[in-house]
Amino acid sequence: MSSEEEIRGRIEDALERTLGDLAVGTRLRRAMEHALLGGGKRIRPLLCVEACRCVGAPAQRAIRAGVAIEMVHAFSLVHDDLPAMDDDDLRRGMPTVHVAFDEATAILAGDALLNGAYRVLCGPDAGPGTSLIEELSEATARMIEGQMLDITGGARTIEDVRRVHELKTGSLMRCACRMGAICGGADEETIEQLGSFGLHLGLLFQATDDLIDAEQAEETAGKATGKDAALGRPTLVGLLGVDGTRDEVVRLVGVCRDLLDGLDGGRLLSLCERIASRTR
Ligand code: IPE
Ligand code: IPE
Ligand code: MG
Ligand code: MG
Ligand code: MG
Repeated sequence: MSSEEEIRGRIEDALERTLGDLAVGTRLRRAMEHALLGGGKRIRPLLCVEACRCVGAPAQRAIRAGVAIEMVHAFSLVHDDLPAMDDDDLRRGMPTVHVAFDEATAILAGDALLNGAYRVLCGPDAGPGTSLIEELSEATARMIEGQMLDITGGARTIEDVRRVHELKTGSLMRCACRMGAICGGADEETIEQLGSFGLHLGLLFQATDDLIDAEQAEETAGKATGKDAALGRPTLVGLLGVDGTRDEVVRLVGVCRDLLDGLDGGRLLSLCERIASRTR
């Protein structure tokens, strides 16, 4: 059985190899490397691989799908940080792409990462190609919709905020789990079950992201904090306060645990518990 350490190593290798295979110019390549290889937590590819393993299939089958989803995630962050969106200078403890390069390069690097994700899924050995492309494109559309709702700041109620979190963060995590299950050859019911786990893990993840923004120092988080309130963004902390959001995190861990019922989901649960107490 591969350890998480080994799986992480395989994901990093595959991300590097994928960028190496994309025929893009040097400056664009460097900007894409900055966005993709610069120390992300790799939650989405890990979810994808662990969902595949938890239905009894080898990790290797889901690596490509994991790479594709991490590329979409990296694209979303490059654009999320742009001056026209969150206007952030720091990401993963490093200058954001538009600061390290320039705005136009950041926009194009984001475009190229998004496009590259689909190229990965079109390649040989990509697993059940068409269904993965459908899954990824639907989830990406939802993520973009969530970003739009987030920046317009119109969410007022808990239900509104949950909807934004489902869309902007839950969609890709749901998709990571569904793609992993599909790569592992799971039946429809299991794909749904793991997808629902991923969606709730996304809600948990965004609840802790809102807590990090409200509570952590920039040095710990590796990104600017205290920005959501300043930008008037709808957050759980804004509506429930810090303590209320912590209660919500505990509740969501319970929901995630229940959703793993009947599956060999020990590693997924451990990931979920680490997310609940994360500070970056
Ligand atoms: C940040 O995602 C954006 C959100 C959805 C909150 P991550 O915290 O997973 O980003 P990295 O890839 O680990 O930096
Ligand atoms: C971003 O949410 C979610 C994405 C789809 C990129 P945030 O704007 O809260 O993410 P951070 O805090 O900048 O990482
Ligand atoms: Mg944002
Ligand atoms: Mg942001
Ligand atoms: Mg945030």
